[in-house]
Amino acid sequence: MSEIDFTDSQYLRSPHKTLSSLLKNGPLVSVKIPKIGKALLATSNEAIIDLLKSPHRFTTDATQVGKSPICAKAGGMPDWKPSNGSLFLAEGNQHRTIRHQLDMALRKSGIKTLRPNIAALADTLISNAIPAKGFPTGHIDLVSQFSRPLPALVMMELMGIPKTDAPDILKLTTQISYPEGPLGGINQQSAGKKLFAYLKDLLASDELPQDSLCFQLKQQPDTTAEINPDELAHLAYFLLQAGHSTTSNLIALGCMSLLDHPTQLKTLTQDWTKAPNAVEEILRYAAPTQMTAPRYAKETFTFYDHTFKRGDIVFGFLAATNMDSSSTPNPDIFDISRSPIRHISFGAGAHFCGGAQLAHLIAEIALQRLFTHRPELQHASNLTKSIIWLPRFGSRHLSRFIVNTTPSPARF
Ligand code: HEM
Repeated sequence: MSEIDFTDSQYLRSPHKTLSSLLKNGPLVSVKIPKIGKALLATSNEAIIDLLKSPHRFTTDATQVGKSPICAKAGGMPDWKPSNGSLFLAEGNQHRTIRHQLDMALRKSGIKTLRPNIAALADTLISNAIPAKGFPTGHIDLVSQFSRPLPALVMMELMGIPKTDAPDILKLTTQISYPEGPLGGINQQSAGKKLFAYLKDLLASDELPQDSLCFQLKQQPDTTAEINPDELAHLAYFLLQAGHSTTSNLIALGCMSLLDHPTQLKTLTQDWTKAPNAVEEILRYAAPTQMTAPRYAKETFTFYDHTFKRGDIVFGFLAATNMDSSSTPNPDIFDISRSPIRHISFGAGAHFCGGAQLAHLIAEIALQRLFTHRPELQHASNLTKSIIWLPRFGSRHLSRFIVNTTPSPARF
């Protein structure tokens, strides 16, 4: 059994070698994870798909097998349990009802028409970016100035949160997803409660724009299975949080991967029609969400030569699967022109990411606006603490990424 610290900053900066060597140990790998203990990781494409598409054998809901959840909770969310509409933990008919409601609402809330608004928000953030404190002139923190606020502001606009409330809500979502300092945990809980109460009031309001996600969430598609106000508020909360730091990490890691590979960056900046493919490759290579939420065995059975007992924990190790050379030739090479690009960064099966299309769109536009406005953008070379990872198991979660925006004639 190997002991791997998936929260170590060296691993988070360059995980590819570790991932490739894990894959050599078979489709199910036993590891010891700091603070969690012994766990199994499904690494191969086949094993992950089997895991995520076997709800009769594995559940996302720890309480079903008499365990306490370890990390299937969006930070700060109050009263998280399957019965209150938490999409992640719901199963079967209950999951289908809520998921259908969400998919319909997203479809009707006009994601595609968001393109100009996302571009305008991105432009404003880039022009207003303030210099990073304690760093030389011309350096900005890409996370706090751009990749973190952009998806949160897009989600708020989509949901129908009034522009006047946006600064306060942005503060709350930041306290929830990026708890910092000794009071971080307490602030996270209190921000979670405030955000939940705010969303419940918003959903009850008669003034929601008709094309907003919250208005659409309130429309019941059929009368057979109603979603109550608490469930709706949980769903709205979950969406705001699920779409916030994940997409921030995708943008920041996308920028990092492109700066690490200047030839790829040049290819992209010369032809932005390659942006959708580039985002696919970033999702594969950088895998912002490294693992699925835990799955718990519902009973005793054998799966890929391993005997599971009720309650045993297994994670789908998405990032490792993306590095599987049986589905991707030379997987450790970052190549935005690959075709096809095979990745599993949005999961699979019933819990496949509900916001994949939106996250993709935001990342495409964000990278295009960023490198169009700041063609001179480069790594902040040799500066200590210019990159800070939050030590969060299961994601490459950047809380700081200082970049240099000083013009330099010879980047390519
Ligand atoms: C780069 C950005 C994102 C990544 C990498 C990502 C990744 C994922 C993954 C891996 C899962 C499945 C987890 C599991 O099976 O344990 C998931 C679920 C989910 N994601 Fe995302 N996500 C992203 C952005 C978003 C956005 C923008 C939204 C909202 C608009 C969103 C909403 C959801 C929802 C609702 C689920 C649960 C679906 C269900 O249980 O039916 N995600 N996401």
